[in-house]
Amino acid sequence: MATFRILVTPGDGIGPEVMEEALKVLGRVQQRFGHEFLYEEETIGGAAIDRYGVALRPETIAKAKASHAVLFGAVGGPKWDDPRASVRPEDAILGMRKQLGLFANLRPVRVSPELIGESTLKPEVLQGVDMVVIRELTGGLYFGKPKRRWENAEGRQAVDTLRYSEREVARVCHVAFQLARQRRKKVTSVDKANVLRTGQLWREIATEVGKQYPDVELEHILVDACAMYLVRRPASFDVIVTENMFGDILTDEAAMLAGSMGMMPSASLGRQRKDGTGIGLYEPIHGSAPDIAGQGKANPLAMILSAAMMLRLSLGLEQEAKAVEDAVDAVIREGLRTPDIAGPGAKVVDTRTMGSAVAERI
Ligand code: NAD
Ligand code: IPM
Ligand code: MN
Repeated sequence: MATFRILVTPGDGIGPEVMEEALKVLGRVQQRFGHEFLYEEETIGGAAIDRYGVALRPETIAKAKASHAVLFGAVGGPKWDDPRASVRPEDAILGMRKQLGLFANLRPVRVSPELIGESTLKPEVLQGVDMVVIRELTGGLYFGKPKRRWENAEGRQAVDTLRYSEREVARVCHVAFQLARQRRKKVTSVDKANVLRTGQLWREIATEVGKQYPDVELEHILVDACAMYLVRRPASFDVIVTENMFGDILTDEAAMLAGSMGMMPSASLGRQRKDGTGIGLYEPIHGSAPDIAGQGKANPLAMILSAAMMLRLSLGLEQEAKAVEDAVDAVIREGLRTPDIAGPGAKVVDTRTMGSAVAERI
């Protein structure tokens, strides 16, 4: 029997609601496959600001480092949204990514055939969509210095800095090419090389890294055009690799190919340990959804699918990951829908019923 340590950080809003369902599903995986998952839970985000005065404590990072993986719900909410606040719930996720060195964020976009009819996009556009967006996660505009606000004779000022090093771009591009090799062998590198120096560096390095993978096709697209192609010809993409903020924005757009933010899982990965494993953080791409929090309306599938990615990528449990994904496919095929993916006449269920249904099918 294998034992794994998992740090659980539910966070705010719908974070705890979807986390409860992912843990329910993992409980079933333990039973069915005979593993032992040892959980530690930590308060993060707005809840941690209320309790400790900070969104992320050093103790939490230490516990993450002692774990095989982190399951992260979502953070944030109107209560902590004062633009002048010195601490923000979002510091929790940014700090976790940076301090754990998780530079590659994999955001797969899979379209269930049963959800195509319920999309806001035309069915023929969605046929065959199967891509992974790799978002650089510890650099770029989010972390570049200087980053500050000040005031002078001209009034209020603010600066954020978009900076990348050769090393930061190259390592995330390698992740993209290696993943493409296991898929349809195509990488789309997305930048703004017509305007930004960082975009020019990005394109140069993506091209150089690409030469080491002659069997993989490389295309370059400007980010504005990419936003358009994502809804015009989404099936043409295999692996997309891009800068931190571009990846943030493009994946919320791509969520509408999958039908909802509630269908989009993610894995954040960094350097591997000597034994070939590495800590990973697994979270849905959605936020704390204050508009539906506490109402049982949240779709737990993005969180559950993130747990499946954890089983595969940090715990090496491929069969178990597949069992969870198959169970998700099964409940969708059977017509169970949370409100975000429910078309007219659909069988609408709440968060807990959806989670239980997935667990029962494992
Ligand atoms: P959001 O992702 O929370 O919500 C956007 C929309 O999608 C809302 O209409 C919401 O109801 C819907 N939605 C999101 N997840 C859903 C789910 N699982 N099931 C059904 N519907 C779902 O984005 P927002 O409203 O822009 O941000 C709210 C807060 O969340 C902000 O404080 C933001 O900073 C934070 N946020 C946190 C994370 C994170 O913790 N990783 C990610 C994104 C946003
Ligand atoms: C995401 C979120 C975060 C981001 C926020 C909450 C800091 O939008 O994970 O996509 O911008 O990275
Ligand atoms: Mn986002």
